[in-house]
Amino acid sequence: MSTQTQIKRITAPDIRARKGAAPIVSLTAYDAVMAALVDKHCDFILVGDSVGMVVHGLSSTVPVTLDMMIMHGQAVMRGAQRALVVVDLPFGSYEGSREQAFASAARIVQETGCGAVKLEGGRHVAETIEFLTSRGIPVLAHVGLTPQAINTLGTFRARGRNVEEETLIADDARAVAEAGAFAVVLEAIAEPLAARITADLAIPTIGIGASAACDGQILVIDDMLGLTLRVPKFVKRYAELGAAADAAIAAYAEEVKARTFPGATNVYALKKT
Ligand code: KIV
Repeated sequence: MSTQTQIKRITAPDIRARKGAAPIVSLTAYDAVMAALVDKHCDFILVGDSVGMVVHGLSSTVPVTLDMMIMHGQAVMRGAQRALVVVDLPFGSYEGSREQAFASAARIVQETGCGAVKLEGGRHVAETIEFLTSRGIPVLAHVGLTPQAINTLGTFRARGRNVEEETLIADDARAVAEAGAFAVVLEAIAEPLAARITADLAIPTIGIGASAACDGQILVIDDMLGLTLRVPKFVKRYAELGAAADAAIAAYAEEVKARTFPGATNVYALKKT
């Protein structure tokens, strides 16, 4: 019998059951190293399609492919043992039909071992969410600013800027909850709307630029660590790792150029003793 202790991984129903309880903590991660760090502190990790912009240098999430999401999902699953891992369905992998969505989501779940998928949209994806959840694939929904729709939205600015838009977003959130999503991301909406939706829904709301009124929060890891140059206004930078890395690389370059780089000497000294 194995003496190894198996760590119990958080599930989508566990997150669903947190409505009205302790706030849900979440961050994105795209590789095994960061996933291991995030795993210690977060309830779920999102392998977001933001990977396209953050890691691959793309100008939007639209070109991100299913194969890219699967590769990053596999890496995150290797690094995280405890948190629920949710992988984004990328643009073009689920909008065609509910059958297309199921085939894409099934690939993600089978090839990564993750516990849930996320997709963007409201009323128009409710039928798809119902189709996936009733076939064993938990879905995290995403309403408000939906970055995959950048070409029709035109900008990444906040949503819910008038009463009509607010009503549509509230209707979207209700539709995805009724369709069976275990939680819903609210992106870039004002606090009164986020508070109204959070009070209205039986599932947890996860805010990103949507105020503390939500049941939980998510941020893009590179933004909050200060690794990205430009971050949305609502993001607090909890560290300045970009500046720290720049200083370290500059110090290394200086030592190499000045022939004071210690590496070779140290290895020689080690061998002699
Ligand atoms: O892709 C992503 O990282 C996301 C978060 C911003 C919620 O969808």
